[in-house]
Amino acid sequence: MRLVHTIEEMREQSRAARAKAGHLALVPTMGALHQGHLSLVRAAGARASAVAVSIFVNPTQFAPGEDFAVYPRTLAADLKALEAEGVELVFAPSVDEMYASNNLTWVVVEGLSERLCGASRPGHFRGVSTVVLKLLHIITPDSAFFGQKDALQVAIIRRMVRDLNLATTIEVCPIVRDPDGLALSSRNRYLTPEDRQSALVLSRSLAQAEKLFKGGERRSDRLIQAAKQAFAREPRARLDYFEIVDLDTIEPVPTITQPVLIAVAAFLGRTRLIDNLILTP
Ligand code: PAJ
Repeated sequence: MRLVHTIEEMREQSRAARAKAGHLALVPTMGALHQGHLSLVRAAGARASAVAVSIFVNPTQFAPGEDFAVYPRTLAADLKALEAEGVELVFAPSVDEMYASNNLTWVVVEGLSERLCGASRPGHFRGVSTVVLKLLHIITPDSAFFGQKDALQVAIIRRMVRDLNLATTIEVCPIVRDPDGLALSSRNRYLTPEDRQSALVLSRSLAQAEKLFKGGERRSDRLIQAAKQAFAREPRARLDYFEIVDLDTIEPVPTITQPVLIAVAAFLGRTRLIDNLILTP
């Protein structure tokens, strides 16, 4: 496994890996790796003969006052885990390396970037799409792997790849959860034991909506109502949004007649967590 810090060397190494392996897959991450990230690495390894992982806590996707400064940075442990997975290349650039020239150029996927998390985190998805385009451009992987955990991120990146005619295939992997249902997240380590317990309301509210849906309920407002009641019983958790939207446009869907995304975000103290599921009638 080779650890690379500069863009120039990463271009060279990626080119060589592609030439040798035939198919290079990329897994973009911000590090503090957990089994959710490693599931992407394994899926990439099953698809490609060489896997590159990027580890970069991207400042432009954090709003002022968010957790950029304290975001967990665990490079030594991350490298150990990636080595064990047989990863070929790890790209861990500094902020100065990635944003050497004080960015004036941004990628904005209009319309999508302001929905769901984009509404409560202004500028977040502009930072995400810009850094992912930079990574795809530096590494030029044949495929790139993302988690369904960040459902809107997936929709935005798919759209960017389509609109900008990028040659990379985007692959999406299912959400990995703890046995009690909590979706794995690098931010779960911020939670106190009490908040960790209360955070189960996210997956519980989704499960409740799914249960009503399976019982025949098709009106989104009824499912949303039930989810809000679940949150009302969990005062430690502050609901940010619980929305039922079209998978591609991310527009709210009042009656479920086609597959929809149910997405939830909530604060436990200052920690913001997200979760989602797809319902298919
Ligand atoms: P990060 O939060 O580190 O996540 C990296 C990838 O792991 C994302 O594709 C995310 O959806 C996936 N992932 C996280 N938790 C998961 C889980 N429980 N199950 C399955 N996959 C999971 O997402 C980002 O970083 C950044 O926005 C990035 C794309 C790297 C751009 O900076």
